[in-house]
Amino acid sequence: MMKLSKEFLWGGAIADFQAEGGYQEGGRGLSTHDFESAGSVDHPRCNTVLMPDGSCATAKSHFFGPDSLPEGGQPFVFPDRYYPSHKAVDFYHHYKEDIALMAGMGYNVFRFSICWSRIYPTGEEATPNEAGLRFYEQVLDELEKYGMEPLITIHHDELPAALALRYDGWSSRHTIDCYLRYCRTLFERFGKRCRYWLTFNEINAVRGFAACGTRKADDQTHYNAAHNMFLASAQAVQLGHEMMPGSQFGAMYALSEIYPATCKQEDVFRRMQCRRESWYFADVMARGAYPAYAADLLRRRGVTLHTEPGDDAILKAGALDFVSFSYYRSCTVNAHSKFNVVGGDANPYLPSTPWGWPIDPLGLRYCMNEVYDRYQKPIFIVENGLGAIDKVEADGTIQDDYRIDYLRDHLRAMMEAILIDGVPCLGYTMWGPFDLVSLSTGEMKKRYGVIYVDMDDAGNGTLARHPKKSYYWMKEVIASPGESL
Ligand code: BG6
Repeated sequence: MMKLSKEFLWGGAIADFQAEGGYQEGGRGLSTHDFESAGSVDHPRCNTVLMPDGSCATAKSHFFGPDSLPEGGQPFVFPDRYYPSHKAVDFYHHYKEDIALMAGMGYNVFRFSICWSRIYPTGEEATPNEAGLRFYEQVLDELEKYGMEPLITIHHDELPAALALRYDGWSSRHTIDCYLRYCRTLFERFGKRCRYWLTFNEINAVRGFAACGTRKADDQTHYNAAHNMFLASAQAVQLGHEMMPGSQFGAMYALSEIYPATCKQEDVFRRMQCRRESWYFADVMARGAYPAYAADLLRRRGVTLHTEPGDDAILKAGALDFVSFSYYRSCTVNAHSKFNVVGGDANPYLPSTPWGWPIDPLGLRYCMNEVYDRYQKPIFIVENGLGAIDKVEADGTIQDDYRIDYLRDHLRAMMEAILIDGVPCLGYTMWGPFDLVSLSTGEMKKRYGVIYVDMDDAGNGTLARHPKKSYYWMKEVIASPGESL
């Protein structure tokens, strides 16, 4: 019988703008996600942009970009429209209840992101916003009450809107300085209470205004912004190690698996190139240097990096301690496929979710092995889960057997990677332990949670929380730990 050690970290993960809400409370400044409308699988989310002549334009935004803003336009919040991040699922007021429910399942870790504009409303204040710090302190108090470790994401695909609008976000090295001031504040205030930190979320996958604060989402802007984020991450790691001895730093990548569509050499070669589009980011951050193939990758995209003397030394000194990733699905590529980091072509051997995400548990085992073979650093699975439509039965229960199937198969694959293949894995935090707003579509009906939140796509509902069938199932898995699978 397979069983994990008692030290293994079991938990859940959220991002502030998908869960917190309270967008104008506690002195919080506007964040780049606050302009994003709701959408659906067929209707991309968008920003409404006010043009200099007073007219409005629409800038479509997509999970993985592009979401450029039209020249001269400013994104705008219309008071009568629904913006999912403004209320989200109101974790801001429900955190005690949510943490108690998660603790009731046996979680010993909780991954959450800090909203940068709660701490520095415009990103540039000389002193932090005390009410913002206090909110997260209360979250940490609650976690400590139940013996749950925090895993803090410093930057989850968003930044203060002011930094985006004034400096073009991560296009500017000024944003690095602001980020480091923000990190210093977090480390000073929460350093004694948090061991695990993630400097950035999925930086291989996100581009454009909402995630990187850049007006454009083209390759030149994207790879330059990424270079600045690499420098920021490396300096945060150094600062964190100095200020918090024993702290462990990772960053998070979207590493859903890719397979060659056939064994034709061209398809296999193209698969290697596509995989390198993600390795590029993890290689720089985990190894502390650009890989040899970076020159060719950038040349093919017509990108010239704006580097400065001293950058290489910074990257080298701030390599990550562990490598973490999200894993939801897999795809295939052939020699001619269009590919955007996680989304390639379908795989005829795999079923898909209603959102077209193929379900591939073995791919998780494969991915864990690939990552460990490549970096030889501990790994942490910080997002995984099934977005599905749930039905509340007449008696109020939610019989989500499909979610149990997904989680069981992926957790078994994870345990095989750990116990058979020997991959050192610090923990597993499933995405959205309680239902939250979907990043890609802004919907509520794409539910990941083992805890149901009563809210619909338009933001209506009581926000009441109810454990689903999968909650009780997960509780047994964690108690065993893993043996009940
Ligand atoms: C990850 C993000 O890419 O995928 C999360 O880090 C996101 O923020 C998750 O929610 C699932 O994507 P979606 O679009 O189903 O919410």
